[in-house]
Amino acid sequence: MKVAASLAVLFGLVQLATSSPARYPVGPRKNAAVEGYGQQTSAYTAPSAFPTSIFASYYNAPESMTAEPRPVVTDVARTSVFPDILANPTVLPPGPSPSEAVYPVPTGAATPDVADQVRAELTNTFSSSAANCTKCTDALKTAQKLAQQAPEQIPGMLVELCKKYNYKSAATCEATYAPQVLGSVYAQVLSYANFSEGSTDAQYICNIVVGSSTSSCTLPAPRELDEGFLDDWFRGQRIPPTEYNRNVGEPTKNNNDLRVLHMSDIHVDPRFFVGGEAACTNGRCCRADAYNSTLSSGKFTQGMLPKANISEVSTYWGNFKCDTPWSLVMALLEAVTPLNGGEEVDMTIHTGDMVVHDLAQYVSQDLVKYTHQSLYDSIRKMLGKGPVFNAIGNHDSAPSDFASQGALPDGRSDQLSWDWDNLARLWESEGWFNHKEAEQARKHYAGYSVTPRKGLRIVAINTDFWYKNNVFNMIHTQNPDYSGSLRFLTDELLRAEKRNERVWIVGHVLTGWDGSNPLDNPTNLFYQIVDRFAPHVIAHIFFGHTHEDQFNLFYANNATSVAADKAKAVSFMAPSVTPGNNVNPALRIMHVNATTYEVMDYHQFYTQVPTFPQLPSSQHGPVFEYLYSARDAYGNFTASNANSSHPTPGGVWPANAPLNATFWAKLTEEMHATPELVQQFTVFQGRNSPKSPKCTDDKCVQAKICYMQSGSAPLGKKCTQGYGSVQS
Ligand SMILES: *[C@@H]1O[C@H](CO)[C@@H](O)[C@H](O)[C@H]1NC(C)=O
Ligand SMILES: *[C@@H]1O[C@H](CO)[C@@H](O)[C@H](O)[C@H]1NC(C)=O
Ligand SMILES: *[C@@H]1O[C@H](CO)[C@@H](O)[C@H](O)[C@H]1NC(C)=O
Ligand SMILES: *[C@@H]1O[C@H](CO)[C@@H](O)[C@H](O)[C@H]1NC(C)=O
Ligand SMILES: *[C@@H]1O[C@H](CO)[C@@H](O)[C@H](O)[C@H]1NC(C)=O
Ligand SMILES: *[C@@H]1O[C@H](CO)[C@@H](O)[C@H](O)[C@H]1NC(C)=O
Ligand SMILES: *[C@@H]1O[C@H](CO)[C@@H](O)[C@H](O)[C@H]1NC(C)=O
Ligand SMILES: *[C@@H]1O[C@H](CO)[C@@H](O)[C@H](O)[C@H]1NC(C)=O
Ligand SMILES: *[C@@H]1O[C@H](CO)[C@@H](O)[C@H](O)[C@H]1NC(C)=O
Repeated sequence: MKVAASLAVLFGLVQLATSSPARYPVGPRKNAAVEGYGQQTSAYTAPSAFPTSIFASYYNAPESMTAEPRPVVTDVARTSVFPDILANPTVLPPGPSPSEAVYPVPTGAATPDVADQVRAELTNTFSSSAANCTKCTDALKTAQKLAQQAPEQIPGMLVELCKKYNYKSAATCEATYAPQVLGSVYAQVLSYANFSEGSTDAQYICNIVVGSSTSSCTLPAPRELDEGFLDDWFRGQRIPPTEYNRNVGEPTKNNNDLRVLHMSDIHVDPRFFVGGEAACTNGRCCRADAYNSTLSSGKFTQGMLPKANISEVSTYWGNFKCDTPWSLVMALLEAVTPLNGGEEVDMTIHTGDMVVHDLAQYVSQDLVKYTHQSLYDSIRKMLGKGPVFNAIGNHDSAPSDFASQGALPDGRSDQLSWDWDNLARLWESEGWFNHKEAEQARKHYAGYSVTPRKGLRIVAINTDFWYKNNVFNMIHTQNPDYSGSLRFLTDELLRAEKRNERVWIVGHVLTGWDGSNPLDNPTNLFYQIVDRFAPHVIAHIFFGHTHEDQFNLFYANNATSVAADKAKAVSFMAPSVTPGNNVNPALRIMHVNATTYEVMDYHQFYTQVPTFPQLPSSQHGPVFEYLYSARDAYGNFTASNANSSHPTPGGVWPANAPLNATFWAKLTEEMHATPELVQQFTVFQGRNSPKSPKCTDDKCVQAKICYMQSGSAPLGKKCTQGYGSVQS
């Protein structure tokens, strides 16, 4: 039975092999629209058994359901087997090894007592009566002396200051600022950033460290991108061609739409502990050492917390405050083919973040490699024929969030090349890339430009270079493209335009919304790039990162008008696989026209975390249900149509028209006229999560529409803040 079931999983036929498939329509959709776009199954019940055949062997017994399986995984270079300590829930992982520390190169001989001098100066600075922001900029200049002369003393100094000013507990200070954790990277930023008059690096750092609410630590205005800059940027080709053929692909054999899976933010937690505290007050929840301080002293042997001291028990299938257990990842992957009507999807886009959210001291290069290897292997085996295109996410590196630019001095650009190299090797070995494409990924920080089908080009970039938490971005803050990623993207778009291709841009961190995640300068430039190449070349943009179902519009002329006829592109942020924090796990199947590469509709599926505690007493695993079709849920513009700059006959979006930027821009117009739609959107944001706040008052409604219309950070920051997320 088990063998039959796991073989069946491989062929996506679980629903035939196991008892009775659930095939019933749920959610708000009407059947008609789904039928119009081909066969689509409404629900799928995953089997309770783990598909053990996916991995050759395990460190534990994966059948038990009392603990998460711990697969034995060999690295892609076939040089080693990842040790069980990366996944064993009751043993703390060793974290990064001291050899992973990377310091800046000292700029010259060190003054003998430089550390004492710097310590004294810092003490004076911090005890002065100056404004916090001034203290911060002064301290950076002082610390730079130490970072440039004796960089290996920076981690120790950070630990000392952290303890002295009670920033964190002594143990946490030591763990966080250890050289191989954050200490040596901070030394690089302190050494390589420019803190002199006229540079904005210090202002950026202090805005993040001190915050702008309590002081004058505001960000400088985004750098102006004037005509001259933009003319140069587009290599003298600022005017797009007047004619452009968008029918560049070839119809499929049976003239069906292409089926493209969009998944994001899997965040598998290999150390997920079943039967622990899922509503914890320390570290990470659903771990063997997690506890809730209202019910427990925290004094217990890992994995031995009595049930009476647990607020919410972590379950085999997952919990709202935790990342994804292996069992849930596999159930979701098993669901894809059945939900696609029994046929494998043609292609998959995964918009990044496979690695668990964890404390910095536990995120090692080995953990990142182990996670990527085991997940890519599983995805290939479960999804079958279609290639998988991945974006690197901020959690797909060690330390998390960091990516180093090619222009860093002293050969420091290479410190994360182990990661890009490993991803390139993996994508080639899984059969998704040829060697030349893999070489590209090595060169472009895991970014690439490939053509999986005639006329379609997928350009992926490493979006850590506009992520606020990548500290390397605090170096050369006035340069909107210090990494060269946007140069690469733009040149690929220029070439695609000449070749008459359509492009999908794939990344992880979004560029806009409320502006709380990305940086101003790079996303302001990205917005101008999109304006230049959309809608003719750029057909779609795919991101993830927020864990929430969102979209962003890009309008002509930097959004000086947000009338529907000015919309040029839309980016889709796919909802996450991980239930953290307080969202239901999701997967999205898009229907794409095979000649234009435009999305005709997408179907959003999800599974309800609140049902998980009851599953062990049933004979099955999670049920994946239908949530909504974008066209069905949003395609009726009756209330706003008459006043729209892009009216549609009868107010309903024509069945043969794609869900392009105009569609989504009209939706924002309709939302102004019908605020209930914003609440509907909010329900989808968290996928029916009972924990999501409502968005019904006018302030929230207006703010959320504003986020949707803001494709860059400077635009998003102009919206009323505080309504961006449904997580808590
Ligand atoms: C630091 O920034 C200032 C002001 O922009 C500039 O004049 C100077 O050349 C920069 N220094 C370095 C080393 O780049
Ligand atoms: C400066 O920071 C300290 C510590 O965070 C805070 O207590 C104080 O209110 C701040 N002072 C000003 C003027 O913002
Ligand atoms: C800790 O447990 C208490 C009591 O069960 C609960 O009210 C609280 O929400 C829990 N804390 C967290 C952070 O989940
Ligand atoms: C569990 O709760 C009991 C009752 O409050 C308390 O005495 C005991 O110390 C707790 N045990 C742990 C391990 O927190
Ligand atoms: C009509 O549309 C314009 C912008 O497109 C908007 O400013 C105005 O409020 C709309 N009027 C109504 C009645 O919806
Ligand atoms: C979207 O599609 C509609 C219908 O085909 C078309 O009128 C509109 O110009 C398109 N919008 C964009 C931005 O391509
Ligand atoms: C795809 O789009 C083209 C151009 O709009 C259209 O002619 C064709 O019928 C569409 N294909 C399908 C399968 O709908
Ligand atoms: C669109 O909405 C209007 C107003 O709510 C309604 O009368 C009409 O039936 C809807 N059309 C479709 C095709 O759902
Ligand atoms: C676009 O608008 C934002 C917000 O007003 C502004 O900061 C930015 O400089 C503008 N970009 C360009 C290229 O004009």
